[in-house]
Amino acid sequence: MSLIYLDNAATTPIDPRVKEAMLPWIGENYGNPSSVHEAGRKAKVMLEDTRDEFAAFIGSRSSEIYFTSGGTEANNFAIKGSAFYNLGKKDHIITTAIEHSAVLDTVEYLKTRFGISVTYLKTNKHGEIDLNELKDSVTDSTFLVSVMHSNNELGVINDISSIAGLIKDTGIMLHSDMVQSLGKVKFSVEETGVNFASFSGHKIYGPKGLGVLYIKKDSPIDKFMHGGKQERDRRGGTENIPAIAGFKKAIELLNAEMDSDIEKAYELRHKLLAELNSQFSDKIIVNSAKEGGTFLQNIVSISFDPKTTKIDPDTLLIKLDMKGIMVSSGSACTSGSVQPSHVLKAIGYDDITARTSIRISLGRFNTESDIDSLIKGLKEIIS
Ligand SMILES: Cc1ncc(COP(=O)(O)O)c(C=O)c1O
Repeated sequence: MSLIYLDNAATTPIDPRVKEAMLPWIGENYGNPSSVHEAGRKAKVMLEDTRDEFAAFIGSRSSEIYFTSGGTEANNFAIKGSAFYNLGKKDHIITTAIEHSAVLDTVEYLKTRFGISVTYLKTNKHGEIDLNELKDSVTDSTFLVSVMHSNNELGVINDISSIAGLIKDTGIMLHSDMVQSLGKVKFSVEETGVNFASFSGHKIYGPKGLGVLYIKKDSPIDKFMHGGKQERDRRGGTENIPAIAGFKKAIELLNAEMDSDIEKAYELRHKLLAELNSQFSDKIIVNSAKEGGTFLQNIVSISFDPKTTKIDPDTLLIKLDMKGIMVSSGSACTSGSVQPSHVLKAIGYDDITARTSIRISLGRFNTESDIDSLIKGLKEIIS
């Protein structure tokens, strides 16, 4: 049975060229970039080259790039770093109900542990927030707005520059989780107007355990990870050099291939949506599409209409998996029990519909025949 991987928003397979680029840094190039001898200097040069290349890719300065252990740490750094800087001064954060848990759990911790108050912006059924609600939520105590650039379950893209425009000159910092947008949509951090932006290596055919926090020059933030003086004394800990070598290659590949990646996702998405509409028009609801809306090309979230289709939430994913098709469900296994996705609940679904929803996420290595197999698999399961 050939395996069909349609879960690229969870993680992307490592591009073989990335793996190749990492090997010397797992082997003979073992130096610590903080060491002044030759082995250390070699690692340091590669580290700084990566910083330069990534900065150029996202439209920032090299001095604004901080390597972290992933998107989760980058989100923690931005949010806790801002909160610690503002302790005793300001105590209000605005975020959305559909952020990744790396944002939601972090603000919840700050709320319970430090009494920070949090406003969660609501969204419509496609995951779009209302800028007027955001504007009305700002108070004199607000120090941070954290809104993701694109949502990992629905693929909806937020208008971050308009948010930046709304809070311009207020002194409020703007953080955006850009983990899912990197390599999937063109943007420049400078143009979006964010102060902080989070990225992750394993969503762009690079290694896991490597992320970046962009910190715009002069944006106030405290240190979050204490230890050595790495990353210009803002993030302690020896940098993950093999992963950074892989990330460097992944960025070089995006420079050369991002346009064709996006084009491919566009074509596969159109085929997928056309097939879904023709084969299951009365049975499914497409969450990731709206006339005039902006969505990532690689994510398609669908829910089964409970009025026309009865699906067992506990077996849908298993049945697809048994056919060798890997997608993601609208539920997450937390402490052994299956919980409906907070994102699907936030856009208005009940528990059962949320749990029978699936996310299909496309990537560089998918083909049209993967879509055909998925449609065939779904037809068999539904019938
Ligand atoms: C939107 C979003 N933010 C943050 C993360 C966490 O990134 P990492 O897995 O690198 O910690 C993910 C990963 O799924 C994500 O999709």
